[in-house]
Amino acid sequence: MRTQWVDWEEAWRDALYGSSGFVHTGEAPVLHFRTSVHVGTVLADALAELLDRTDHALGRPQVLDLVDLGAGGGELLSAMVDIAGAPLRRRLRPSAVDLRPAPMQWQLPWLAQLPERVTGLVIAHEWLDAIPCPVVQHDGNDARRMQVSADGTERLGVALSGPGLAWLRRWWPLADGERAEVGLHRDRAWQQVLRHMDAGAALAVDYGHLRTERPCAGTLAAYRHGRQVRPVPDGSCDLTAHVSLDSLAALAPGVHTTQAEALDNLGAREQPQLGSWLRQAVRTGQIAELTDPAGFGGFGWVLHPTNIDLPL
Ligand SMILES: C[S@@+](CC[C@H](N)C(=O)[O-])C[C@H]1O[C@@H](n2cnc3c(N)ncnc32)[C@H](O)[C@@H]1O
Repeated sequence: MRTQWVDWEEAWRDALYGSSGFVHTGEAPVLHFRTSVHVGTVLADALAELLDRTDHALGRPQVLDLVDLGAGGGELLSAMVDIAGAPLRRRLRPSAVDLRPAPMQWQLPWLAQLPERVTGLVIAHEWLDAIPCPVVQHDGNDARRMQVSADGTERLGVALSGPGLAWLRRWWPLADGERAEVGLHRDRAWQQVLRHMDAGAALAVDYGHLRTERPCAGTLAAYRHGRQVRPVPDGSCDLTAHVSLDSLAALAPGVHTTQAEALDNLGAREQPQLGSWLRQAVRTGQIAELTDPAGFGGFGWVLHPTNIDLPL
């Protein structure tokens, strides 16, 4: 039988979001990968502080949107709604947005797309890394789009051209043999998010890299049941690639910082440590995990406010 070759971007999209794609297996995302969201409530507490600052900057509107974009298992949104006091909850309009179906017994709104207009806070936590993009390799002359077969074998395809090539030259110049994921689609997806904002802020949090330190082999990776596996576009694993956070940050005025600095600025280390010694020790351990430079501390935060002042 002849091998069928498909452009990696198309194969990636189909493997995750196609009708028999990975997000439709019905399995909870946390069974396959763990994110900062799953490390206790430290992140949710810090983001509740950011929500409060956004609310304050907006003059405490009658309806305050809180959107968890790429909500996965919905853990972050649930935790933030739990943290909100009763007066805020009366004004709060929480929504989870994801292409996967809502988890069983989910009680809050679960949407396939962003609400048309947003006044409040949009949080895209590890959303952009799940947006498929072209995978390219430089052959000495051109950056060529990689093709892949159903078993994960790769070959060089057509030369990248147009806006994708312009993006690559500006943000991820390649030498012979080097690989990259072209971040233009992620930048465009983020611009689309910003267009939904009437006022408030949009926050992207993700594993990323900067122009000065791009990995020369690219970052396309796959996870199944908590383990890293070979990327195969057959719907059996999650496919992901780190985000070019500097190209994202350059799209609008805002703040680009590290997770450690962001958590500090939002008072994560100062949160009142009420409760038992054991609880305090657990919280300290969670902060250490979220700020470990070799792990979740490697995350970058990009915050783009719209029509408000919101220092982070
Ligand atoms: C890596 S998971 C992150 C889940 C969660 N935010 C967390 O940090 O644990 C990315 C999620 O984004 C969702 N996603 C990807 N593209 C999307 C899109 N265009 N619209 C809505 N959700 C999307 C995926 O289905 C997946 O659940």
